[in-house]
Amino acid sequence: MRPYQFDPKEVVVAVDIGTTKVCAVAGRLNEYGKIEILGMGKVRSEGVLRGVISNIEKTVNAIKEAISAVEKQLDSTVKIVHVGIAGQHIKSLQHRGILTRDNAHDEIGQEDIEKLIRDMYRLVLPPGDKILHVIPQEFTVDNEQGILDPIGMSGIRLEANFHIITGQITASNNILRCLEKVGLEVADLTLEPIASAESILSREEKEAGIALVDIGGGTTDLTIFYDGIIRHTAVIPFGGNVVTRDIKEGCTIMPHQAEKLKIKFGSALADEVYDNRIITIPGLKGREPKEISEKNLALIIQARMEEIFDYVLWEIRRSGYDKKLIGGIILTGGGSLLKQIDILSEYHTGIPTRVGYPVDQLAHG
Ligand SMILES: Nc1ncnc2c1ncn2[C@@H]1O[C@H](COP(=O)(O)OP(=O)(O)OP(=O)(O)O)[C@@H](O)[C@H]1O
Ligand SMILES: [Mg+2]
Repeated sequence: MRPYQFDPKEVVVAVDIGTTKVCAVAGRLNEYGKIEILGMGKVRSEGVLRGVISNIEKTVNAIKEAISAVEKQLDSTVKIVHVGIAGQHIKSLQHRGILTRDNAHDEIGQEDIEKLIRDMYRLVLPPGDKILHVIPQEFTVDNEQGILDPIGMSGIRLEANFHIITGQITASNNILRCLEKVGLEVADLTLEPIASAESILSREEKEAGIALVDIGGGTTDLTIFYDGIIRHTAVIPFGGNVVTRDIKEGCTIMPHQAEKLKIKFGSALADEVYDNRIITIPGLKGREPKEISEKNLALIIQARMEEIFDYVLWEIRRSGYDKKLIGGIILTGGGSLLKQIDILSEYHTGIPTRVGYPVDQLAHG
């Protein structure tokens, strides 16, 4: 039963098609500008590989199940959804646009910026790729550089640097096809790191400079913000699932046992784990139980997480913002729930790290 009435038109539904879970969330903006969650459905995902749909039917069924859970909680049908896109195929590049205006005395308006953005969509990309987002960085008006907002200025030559995010056409078509089969209309397709940054990072953090690291099941996504703008995006094709696979192979146990071990006893810092703690795992049919030391488990986890942080650090350096991240690293995604992961990140990258939760933007209650 619903505690009170709300206007169904205000309700926004978002779908995240992840490697390990498909999630649908319904929410609305309350009078204080916070998001109030009205319903949520989370279903195991089996049709997604490293963030990319590989089995339409399984994904359609998972979306159906997640949406119907939300519909039950809302007590109404969902018709339109906002969908996230992520995965290994996402790439980003920098490009510069130039616009020569007719009249130097006319103020630069939104339409000038939109024209520059439209031009970017004409860029020639590798076959099979399409532009997902065009994000303006700084502008130059005549010879004045480093302008964040040129609207209202006058000048004849408007130039801009853009951060352009591209993805595979087939990957986005598959997402659209799945939602169509479920009978849902897609309002928009948003890069997942952009969506999670909105919910986790404060405006001050995005201004100060921050690296958002989403450790998912299949991929680890990095997004760098500086001066309030996205400066760099990268997708590292490893996530928590590789850690589970390492445990499975290192301890010769079943995948579900490895996953349980990681979540219940795992730590990303072997030094912090006592030598003498042993976990006993029941053996398969008639076989002897297995004994695994917590220390060993942590060593396996730490080795793989260090490798993932090596990639993260390499990408942060490549972006050129490594010395400018005053807000440090913020970890999110299921992999950020691993014990001591923030400390390992700090040791390994030398950058202050915290785990981020979307609580600041959510209404309590
Ligand atoms: N408490 C926990 N401790 C350690 N790892 C965890 C914990 N909870 C979840 N994980 C790991 O997080 C990963 C899943 O994270 P998440 O739900 O963010 O992924 P996803 O969105 O489905 O995948 P992707 O974003 O890569 O498509 C899994 O590898 C899982 O083992
Ligand atoms: Mg994810």
